[in-house]
Amino acid sequence: MEKHFAVIGDPIAHSLSPCMHNAGYQAARLAAEYQRFAVKPEQLREAVLGLRALGFSGWNVTIPHKEKIIPFLDELTPTAERAGAVNTVKVTETGKLIGHNTDGWGFLRSISALLPVVRGKNVVLLGAGGAARGIAVPLAESGAKLLILNRTPEKAGELSELLTGYGAQSAWGSLQPGDWLAAADLVVQTTSVGLRGEPFSFSLRGLKKEALVVDIIFNPAETQFLREARQLGNAALNGLGMLLYQGVLAWEFWLEEPPPVENMEQALRAADGG
Ligand code: ATR
Repeated sequence: MEKHFAVIGDPIAHSLSPCMHNAGYQAARLAAEYQRFAVKPEQLREAVLGLRALGFSGWNVTIPHKEKIIPFLDELTPTAERAGAVNTVKVTETGKLIGHNTDGWGFLRSISALLPVVRGKNVVLLGAGGAARGIAVPLAESGAKLLILNRTPEKAGELSELLTGYGAQSAWGSLQPGDWLAAADLVVQTTSVGLRGEPFSFSLRGLKKEALVVDIIFNPAETQFLREARQLGNAALNGLGMLLYQGVLAWEFWLEEPPPVENMEQALRAADGG
């Protein structure tokens, strides 16, 4: 029987997930289809019930529903619980809805070729919103030493406190250059700055040459932040790898088998224009 998957969000027209997953199904000769649906916040509950009634096996959840979907689910995995957000829902054979989050571990998988071990590494997160939290939790669980910098420092403080509650090493501050630049092994840009081509408010000058720099934005493919990192000679990644691996992990959660990662990556790069 054909399996059905989807992504729900608003806006959703530009989501690359259908393309990535459908390419994977084709390569794996799997009878499955992945669709996208625009869902308004006030219709989220109906959408969730509708997807279940229609026999969907699972779906991804994106902006603005990642937190608001939680009350409509039956269970959360510990990862989703800690992230405080859900990006993947699985429908069990008995119709139970399980919320999971593959963003953070997807991020870690996406950097693993360049930074295989994060334990003991100095990681600086720029931003303290939902995306930062999703990434911070698995980094903390993997033994990284975190520093969270945010325009509104109190929010960085709240996230930092949450992480230290899990036994992590975490500090926080305001979004500005400082001694951290020379100490950081990994810098992750999680704010929305750069989405419209705007520059970041400070320079990365002083950054250790060996530091890996990641901007979770993938459209534009190179933000001014990433460009500066590359000009300084640092290795730099955009968010396309995170998108790929959150999809890979969602596939594994739904289907309990490894997906054809290369085909998914090819489809993603083709759809993203390069
Ligand atoms: P997301 O789920 O994408 O993380 P969010 O939870 O709304 O979205 O968080 C947005 C992040 O981008 C926050 O860290 C925000 O900083 P504030 O907490 O100070 O609002 C950050 N951000 C947005 N616009 C920014 C700007 N112009 N300069 C610096 N940080 C900005």
